[in-house]
Amino acid sequence: MNSNLRVLITGGAGYIGSHTILELLPFYDVLVLDNLSNSSLESIKRVEKISAKKIEFIHGDICDVSFLNKLFAQNTFDAVIHFAGLKAVGESVSMPLKYYENNVLGTIHLLNAMKHAQVKNLVFSSSATVYGVPDALPLTEEAPRSATNPYGQTKLMIENILMDLASSDSDWNIVNLRYFNPVGAHKSGLIGENPRGMPNNLMPFISQVAVGSRKSLNIFGDDYDTVDGTGVRDYIHVVDLAKGHLAALDYLFANESIGFEPFNLGTGKGISVLEMVKAFEQFNGVDVPYKLVERRSGDVAACYADASKANQMLNWRAELDLKAMCEDAWRWQSKNPNGFNQ
Ligand code: NAD
Ligand code: UFG
Repeated sequence: MNSNLRVLITGGAGYIGSHTILELLPFYDVLVLDNLSNSSLESIKRVEKISAKKIEFIHGDICDVSFLNKLFAQNTFDAVIHFAGLKAVGESVSMPLKYYENNVLGTIHLLNAMKHAQVKNLVFSSSATVYGVPDALPLTEEAPRSATNPYGQTKLMIENILMDLASSDSDWNIVNLRYFNPVGAHKSGLIGENPRGMPNNLMPFISQVAVGSRKSLNIFGDDYDTVDGTGVRDYIHVVDLAKGHLAALDYLFANESIGFEPFNLGTGKGISVLEMVKAFEQFNGVDVPYKLVERRSGDVAACYADASKANQMLNWRAELDLKAMCEDAWRWQSKNPNGFNQ
């Protein structure tokens, strides 16, 4: 049943945002804000098609202060889910100012507009990248934080800003979600990850090799101290991740004086690159040719979550398995070989 609570979703046309809107729609009213710098309006049209609901969308930029002030003056929101940000690690190394400006400054402008409008409920998209090089696994929310690249720095800086804000004013309720590695797509095959140019991440690369748009996958390093020498990550189905945001909003509205509360969203299971390639081939009946190449600089050997805090406090857990991740990623890729640019 719809609660009539209204949520502003920044970056809602993107990969995780579009999946999250679908999960929220039965329970919350949403307004989606996006500058479409890394997404397409087609994702919103597809969400409308799947849900048979009209989505309120506004084209705008969180770095545009007068736009934000007008938006908050003309609308009432009960909470904000803040996805908007740039996320390409390599690009952040070559264009750091673009990342600090868009991610950090954009977030400060958003927080100012929220404060001014007395909207103090926030769900923020952070990342396991804030754990830097893990010194113990699985990672709990108390693990030391550090950053190994400008993208990671932006997440770390924003987390610090949010902590300071929450301690300065007890009216702020901030749920800080640290995502592990989101993969897969909605089971309709209508929405999914739509990387521009060469994918940085493993799963879209595997899918593009399987569909024939790339020749072979480079596996970065086979000499790590892991089960088979390749890197280990905690892959989480994007629909499970999306449901984590519904749980986070429910938690925000059911509790007071939350302050700043971080949660890991992962499965708790580590999967190696080779295990992922084999699973994708086996579950989808396709070939994924690969080459073993040098390690990628900045990569860690292994990274996986202890997600028990989210299990206990948000009543959330990841439910979809590796099979669903591989099958759903492949359904999206094979039905939309060019992503949203059909
Ligand atoms: P995405 O690029 O698909 O979505 C981000 C959206 O934000 C895009 O639609 C983009 O157009 C929009 N955007 C960017 N800058 C904006 C601005 N200044 N104003 C308005 N809109 C803007 O990425 P995603 O994978 O959906 O990630 C969403 C969030 O989750 C990001 O903050 C990202 O850093 C974080 N995150 C992603 C991953 C991942 O692997 N996908 C992992 C951890 C954290
Ligand atoms: N990998 C390959 N070949 C590829 C791409 C990736 O072998 O073409 C390997 C990587 O070396 C790593 C694993 O696959 O071992 C996963 O790599 P991804 O790039 O998919 O994911 P990462 O864990 O390296 O990085 C992701 C996000 C970052 C974020 C980080 C921590 O892309 O933005 O998770 O949250 F910082």
